[in-house]
Formats: sequence, C-alpha cells, structure tokens
Amino acid sequence: MPRAQSRYVCQACGAVAPKWAGKCESCGEWNTLVEEAAVEAGPPKGLGRGRGKKLDFVALSGTSAGAPRRVSGIAEFDRVCGGGLVPGSAILVGGDPGIGKSTLLLQVAARLARTGAGCAYISGEEAIDQVRLRAARLGLAEAPVRLAAATSVRDIVASLDASDLDLVVIDSIQTMYVDTLDSAPGTVSQVRAAAQELIRLAKRRGFALLLVGHVTKEGLIAGPRVLEHMVDTVLYFEGERGHQFRILRAVKNRFGPTDEIGVFEMTDAGLAEVSNPSALFLGERRGHVAGSAVFAGMEGTRPMLVEIQALVAPSPYGTPRRAVVGWDGNRLAMVTAVLDARCGLSLGGRDIYLNVAGGLRIAEPAADLAVAAALVSALSDRPVPPETVVFGEIGLAGEVRAVSQMDARLKEAGKLGFTAAFAPPRRGGSKPRAGDVAVTEIAHLRQLVDLFEPEARAA
Ligand SMILES: Nc1ncnc2c1ncn2[C@@H]1O[C@H](COP(=O)(O)OP(=O)(O)O)[C@@H](O)[C@H]1O
Ligand SMILES: [Mg+2]
Ligand SMILES: [Zn+2]
Repeated sequence: MPRAQSRYVCQACGAVAPKWAGKCESCGEWNTLVEEAAVEAGPPKGLGRGRGKKLDFVALSGTSAGAPRRVSGIAEFDRVCGGGLVPGSAILVGGDPGIGKSTLLLQVAARLARTGAGCAYISGEEAIDQVRLRAARLGLAEAPVRLAAATSVRDIVASLDASDLDLVVIDSIQTMYVDTLDSAPGTVSQVRAAAQELIRLAKRRGFALLLVGHVTKEGLIAGPRVLEHMVDTVLYFEGERGHQFRILRAVKNRFGPTDEIGVFEMTDAGLAEVSNPSALFLGERRGHVAGSAVFAGMEGTRPMLVEIQALVAPSPYGTPRRAVVGWDGNRLAMVTAVLDARCGLSLGGRDIYLNVAGGLRIAEPAADLAVAAALVSALSDRPVPPETVVFGEIGLAGEVRAVSQMDARLKEAGKLGFTAAFAPPRRGGSKPRAGDVAVTEIAHLRQLVDLFEPEARAA
C-alpha cells in the first residue's frame, strides 16, 4: 500500500484542502483545518469486471409493514423523534458540552429498558463508575441497561453484532475510532468512519442508534454537522447557561416533522419533562410593566406563550446599540424601521434591547407584532393591556398579516387565563373563534401604536 498522503480537513464542514490555511475556503470558519491521513490514494477505479446481482423491481403500490416504533415513555423525547424510535434508524443528538445529552440519553435508555427492550449504553467519555454514579443520582440504577465503556468501533461492532438489542447509545461519536484509519479520534475522517460502521450495523441488526455529538466552537474536534447527512434524524439539545430548561429540537427527520420541540427542566434528579412550557416561560412575569408583551407562538404542533421584553433608551453614542437575545437581529431592524417609517416613531436613533424571556429562541415571523408591541410599550412607557397576547406578521408597508394556527394560539391563551388578544384580521374576513379571548384585530401597525396613545409618536 502506498504511503497515505496527508490532507487538511475542515473539522467544521468536512471540506478537504491540500494545504493548511487559517481559514476554511468552504465554510469560512477559522482554525478548523486539521491534518489527516488521506483515506484512499489514487483516483477511484470504477466498477471493474465483477457481475452485479439483478434488482427486483416492484410496483409503487403495495405495503411493507414497518416495524413498530419504540416509545420510551418520555413524551417530550418521543414526540420530537416523530412518535418514538424507528428500528434501524440512526439519530444524532448534538449539543454543547454539559447541556445534558448524557443525562437525557441515559434516561431514555433506562425508560425503554424498563419496558422490556434491549438497551445498551456505550460510553467513550466517562468511566463505568461515573455513569453508574449518574444512574444512581437519577434513580435509574436498577434499570436493565447494558453498560460498557469502549472507544474501539471494532470491539463495539463485534459485541453488538452478537446481541439482540433495540437501542444503542454511543456517547460520544467523537471519542470513537476505527483502527484502520491513522487519524486521531474526533477528526472528521474518524467521526465519519465510526458513524458509518455503527449506522450500517444498526440497519443490519434493526436497533435504533443514538449518537451523541458535541458541538465545538474551537474546531479541534469535528462537530456533529459533518454527520448530519449520514443519519436519519438530527436533534439538537440546547439551552441558555443559567437557565434550568432545555429544548430538544428536531432539525432533520426522515420519519417525522422537523419543527417539533421537547421541553425539559434540568433538576437534581435529571431532566424533567415540561408538558406545559407556557406556564414555565411566563412564570416569572411581573404584572404590568411597560416594555413587555406576551407572544402567542407555535413550536411545531404546540402553542407556546412567551414573554418578549424590550428596553428603549436614548442613545449616548452616534451609533445606537442593538442587543437581541432569542430573536433575529435583522428582523428587529425591520420592525423598527417599519415603526419609524410607517407610524412616525423615532426608534432609529435609540438604543434597543430585546429579550425573549426564559432564554427561548423564536424563529417565527408571527412574533413581529409582539415585538412591535413591546417596543411601542417601552417607548410610550405604557404597559400592554393586562392579560393580552399578541401575534401577527408585519409587512414592509406596516400591514399586519394573518399567521398560521390562529385558533390554536388563541385557545392556548384562553387556557392560561388570558382574556384579550391583538391579532391580525383573518384571511377572507371570517371572525376568529376565540372562545373567552376578546380579539382586537390589528390590520396595520398604526392601529397598534394608536392603542398606546399618540404620545408614543415622539416628535
Ligand atoms: N451532581 C449533580 N447534581 C445536579 N445536577 C448535576 C450534577 N452533575 C451534573 N449535573 C447537571 O448535569 C449537567 C451535565 O449533563 P451531561 O448529561 O453530563 O451533559 P453532556 O453529556 O451534554 O455533556 C450539568 O451541566 C449539570 O447541570
Ligand atoms: Mg456527556
Ligand atoms: Zn469548513
């Protein structure tokens, strides 16, 4: 075998460069190129002479009975997976170190094992004792999970191929190595090769494979992104430092929707499911203060109320400060510009701080109107009317557009004791079915501003 040549692989995106460089040409990340031995030397050789087997073509109609999904009983997890774990599928669970991936997956494995499923937990990061300590702390020590500490994919494949399992957790994929490669564990080549072997085994043996992948900023070890196209499902586990709750988010799912989230709270006894997130996110709301609006949002199929807070202050500098937590800064710039241009406000020259309370991250344009309400409220120093939720998308002309699932949003608001809503008019002019919630229809942003008094229109 010819000596393998080296090449430089970006640990963030997997792009290959012949020479080292400070910045990856492909994704623009800095300091992510790491020298790795080339896997195969020479150009691909084509198919050669061997004969292929004839394929059996079938009709599009007809059914193949899928194996039933494995339901862990942790509803927040099962829902994000699309209704349980699909046998033979590979799921990547990415997240920052310390966010709670090991905790979550140990809980999933233990719950599933208690239902009689065969579950293995393979730790490449922590020693047996450490995992046992965690299991004891979580009250899971008695669950019939098969635990091993290993990093050699060859050993793992040899052990798993012989046993009858429904779920295998690999914690983490960045600690695993394939001994036919020269590269160090954690490099793109190793992470990919290890994942490929394990995924192939999962398909052959029909167990669900959960791969833990640390998200890294430094680029010294490969991030989960390089695996995203290889697995069936990609879940990210996220949360803000200093906040108790964690969100599991599906960003890719061959077997289910991708806009579902699961909400958990990190407690001493592990991750507790939060089945009513609105109550959690609104829990610390302090009555009626100016600059606060409750947004009736949707996360996947689930309505969720969150508080949006704004602070508007005269800017002492030439360039006003804009700080946004939990929302898109460009979207804020747009809403601010529309408020100034279409409603005569003067937000442009002021410092603006916007915060989605509790550390949740909102992506929906439906939050526009709630953000506008928080801003106008802050500027006029008048609170949003009590027990009112707000939602609606804002267009550049200042028009407020209908958003999806208006009934579900209003219903959730009613359920949590809200009695009023600022909402866009319905398409087709039908009245919203709002139950106990009195809807004030806002067709243009100016109507919202007028609700807060013309004072808001600072000259
Ligand atoms: N003894 C403990 N008591 C309470 N919480 C703990 C304890 N040890 C760890 N934790 C919590 O668990 C988190 C680590 O979770 P872990 O599952 O190891 O994360 P990851 O696998 O994503 O790196 C810590 O950030 C902390 O919040
Ligand atoms: Mg861990
Ligand atoms: Zn790159």
